[in-house]
Amino acid sequence: MGKKIVVLNGSPRIKGNTSMLVEEFAKGAEEAGSAVTVFHLDKMNINGCKGCFGGGKNPKSPCVQKDDMEKIYPVYKDADVVVLASPLYYWNFSGQLRTAFDRLFAVAECDKNYQNPIKESVLLMAAEGYGFDDALSYYKNLMKHLGWKDLGSVLAGGVMKIGDINGHKELNEAYELGKSVATSNSL
Ligand SMILES: Cc1cc2nc3c(=O)[nH]c(=O)nc-3n(C[C@H](O)[C@H](O)[C@H](O)COP(=O)(O)O)c2cc1C
Repeated sequence: MGKKIVVLNGSPRIKGNTSMLVEEFAKGAEEAGSAVTVFHLDKMNINGCKGCFGGGKNPKSPCVQKDDMEKIYPVYKDADVVVLASPLYYWNFSGQLRTAFDRLFAVAECDKNYQNPIKESVLLMAAEGYGFDDALSYYKNLMKHLGWKDLGSVLAGGVMKIGDINGHKELNEAYELGKSVATSNSL
């Protein structure tokens, strides 16, 4: 049985290494019957969270800021799986991904206990080096705090320029992970 999957792609390079991981992941997922929506965060108008704690009043438009997060909220709420995709920037997620993720807090504000909706999750990352430890540990802690179920990650090191990832085994790993997500049964 397929899943509803939302991908938050935090790479500014639309044809870059992260996007190629996303493409392969989505291919595997769709072949296995899932529906995938990809958001290229850098191409969207998404402001940083203001920390106003004033959101959550209207579940259909939960944030006080009215920007392109309005496109993401309904898809996010409906999704079974959230894929976090990012280049490694200074040993962590890109600012684009962090910024959008902060803004998901407005959805949690719809719940009186600030409970985020429970999701499954996947991490896809690309980097010039192989220093993924901090990002991976951040991701795992984040999933633990949110109560989300990590379905796996693909971390492609040794790729810097657009296209460097061609021929790397991680593309196939992303494809296989996409396929497997359709049938995971963890929620
Ligand atoms: C601002 C910035 C910070 C970066 N920081 C790191 C880093 O900490 N470690 C690393 O291995 N590569 C780092 N890189 C290299 C990128 O992760 C690498 O080029 C990656 O393939 C980019 O993915 P993309 O093609 O999806 O944009 C950085 C690149 C930029 C532009």
